[in-house]
Amino acid sequence: MPLQLGQDVVLFGGTGDLVMRKLLPALYHLHCDAMLGPDVSIIGIAREDINTDRYREIAQEQCRRFLETDFNEARWQAFAARIQYRPIDARDPASFAALAECLGEVARRSQVYYLSTAPALFTSICRHLHETGLITPASRVVLEKPLGHDLASSREINDEVGRYFAEEQIYRIDHYLGKESVQNLLALRFGNALFEPLWRREWISDVQITVAEQIGVEQRAEFYDKTGSLRDMVQNHLLQLLCIVAMEPPASIDADAVRDEKLKILRALRPIPTDEVPLRTVRGQYRAGASSGQPVAGYLDEPGVAPASRTETFVALQANIDTWRWADVPFFLRTGKRMQERVAEIVINFRAVPHSIFGKRTKGLNNNRLVITMQPDESVKLHLQAKRPGDEMVLNPVSLDLDFAEGTHPRRLEAYERLLMDVMRGNLTLFVRRDEQEAAWKWVEPIMSSWNESGDAPKPYTAGTWGPAASTALLGREGFHWQEEL
Ligand code: BG6
Repeated sequence: MPLQLGQDVVLFGGTGDLVMRKLLPALYHLHCDAMLGPDVSIIGIAREDINTDRYREIAQEQCRRFLETDFNEARWQAFAARIQYRPIDARDPASFAALAECLGEVARRSQVYYLSTAPALFTSICRHLHETGLITPASRVVLEKPLGHDLASSREINDEVGRYFAEEQIYRIDHYLGKESVQNLLALRFGNALFEPLWRREWISDVQITVAEQIGVEQRAEFYDKTGSLRDMVQNHLLQLLCIVAMEPPASIDADAVRDEKLKILRALRPIPTDEVPLRTVRGQYRAGASSGQPVAGYLDEPGVAPASRTETFVALQANIDTWRWADVPFFLRTGKRMQERVAEIVINFRAVPHSIFGKRTKGLNNNRLVITMQPDESVKLHLQAKRPGDEMVLNPVSLDLDFAEGTHPRRLEAYERLLMDVMRGNLTLFVRRDEQEAAWKWVEPIMSSWNESGDAPKPYTAGTWGPAASTALLGREGFHWQEEL
């Protein structure tokens, strides 16, 4: 049997969407895989004045939807017996007594405090945990993004949380790092001798990172309208993915070895000067259109969005990394809501062969491409040229599937499941260190201020498309094309 995890998990924001959609289902899977020790409790915390029975009912109803066919009544009942609920107001220190009472008997064990709340509450939660004597050297705290809305506010949160937890106790989550194919990219890059010599400017022409969503802002308008795509996706997920692609080989897979290398990349990102921001970035906002064949409203008509909002729902930009390895290799990043397809992928485009001996006998493009797909399904594919069977020498594109997870594990772990397991095991490798996070804010800040100062509205795009035409032009100017335009 695998080593069982022994910490209690306290979920602040316990009635929220993330807990119901991701965290409880992830814990349920860990329970079903016999990964949770017999005494592990899961304690939901929120302001709602309900009791544990009602919370279990709500959790069952919600998680059943998200677990789909993985939901099993009998297993759920056994899992639900671990769940407790305590109504606590994060701003009211007195109400933390209820948590202390609940953790009472287990106070000698370590706890994982998962803060899935508005970041404005992080500091008061940590302070009250401390004042109630609920933080021990074995406690861990998980911080959900966004951590602040700029460098100064993220520093403030980090300073405050840092007063109660040491950096090794702080798990800043970026769920993109928990995706199986992202870890497979690490395995491919550093577990094979084949890629490393090619993984550089001499052989790679450009890198494209796309996280396109079909959904709009859904019920999160209040949060999203203050945040926008640059803060919601680029500052964290996309820059973390860029780091995994671009970092130098770390000396080991240990947390700090990996995070040191990622940090070097973030620090080597060429700052985009204010006057180049309009040239190197595109921000867009969706207008009414269609998604999966159904008409959908424009961003400005979504309930909860300010009528003249300038918040971007789409970003495309060109990043450059000033190192020997990556000099002159553009990294194109793009993310948006209400786009044509739901796709998250990293595309590594290799240069063309220096001279083609086959003349016109090739079909399609002959550049090699490595495509790491995180959504809708996870896969890693290497696109090559091969001879078409037959008497003629005609080349055809073929793709090699480099993803063997299917054969070796019966079920792929969901990103949150993997990351929760890492928190409980005390493995920080896939979590973001404070200096990384601050370096990422430092890089995106001039973009934010240039957009604010320019007074220009985001470029409109029709819902259900690949974003504003300016996004195609961004690459076109440099002689490149987005993957789907090839
Ligand atoms: C979250 C963002 O971090 O990532 C959301 O706040 C976004 O706006 C989500 O929808 C995307 O995650 P995934 O795993 O569904 O691609």
